[in-house]
Amino acid sequence: MEVVILPDAQTIAATAAGAIAELLHRRPDAVLGLATGSSPLALYDELVARHQAGQVSFARAKAFMLDEYVGLPADHPERYRNVIDRAFASRVDLAPDAVQGPDGLAADLPAACAAYDQAIRDAGGVDLQILGIGSDGHIAFNEPGSSLASRTRVKTLTTQTISDNARFFGGDAAAVPRHVLTQGLGTIMEARHLVLMATGRAKAEAVHHMVEGGVTAMWPGSLLQFHPHATVLLDDAAAARLQLAGYYRHTYANKPAWQGL
Ligand code: GLP
Repeated sequence: MEVVILPDAQTIAATAAGAIAELLHRRPDAVLGLATGSSPLALYDELVARHQAGQVSFARAKAFMLDEYVGLPADHPERYRNVIDRAFASRVDLAPDAVQGPDGLAADLPAACAAYDQAIRDAGGVDLQILGIGSDGHIAFNEPGSSLASRTRVKTLTTQTISDNARFFGGDAAAVPRHVLTQGLGTIMEARHLVLMATGRAKAEAVHHMVEGGVTAMWPGSLLQFHPHATVLLDDAAAARLQLAGYYRHTYANKPAWQGL
């Protein structure tokens, strides 16, 4: 795991965007993994800006979303599929059918989950997966206690996540769906490069357990310690509880330029 501590969310966004632009130059038909939540929003803005400046094209790329609420109507603004379209997909040159997400309106949810895992496999797997982390350590919607080998499936949100996400539903926790579909931790771990972004003091404990704690289903992000290419981009506040922060800063400051992220 490479931990990079950067001054602010804008620098984190620019650093992640650099990795995605470099991937698309190398492989224009790359498969991206898209995340929702507030953490990737600055990254999406940065990618849109680079696209508008003619520096990066998504025309041949594909994308898979991490997760989706169960049962939100197709036109609900907080349905993750709509959030991603608004924040990113509709603002770049991704083909209309290039973005797929788990179908939270499927009549047979387990079958939709299995089909989704298969669609990711059929596309050749995800090249670069964008990730955030919940304050309780969840990755996508893999809440504490999730199987570390899990595949895409139905999950029930914790009361902590419901309360964290109520801000997207006018502050009304009762409006947040109880159930979600999420890529499993095993599914996510198959992506070839994981880029996780976290900012702010509210994430410091989850980041501490993810990076320096034991690998445990109680802190699902800790599974990233087993990934051969995981990059964790943090601001000072999110890194506040890291024991080896000085070492991570030293390593990044001395990183050979050719290495990339
Ligand atoms: C949400 C999403 C996750 C996201 C996390 C943190 O519930 N399902 O993919 O990483 O919670 O969200 P935020 O970035 O808004 O703090």
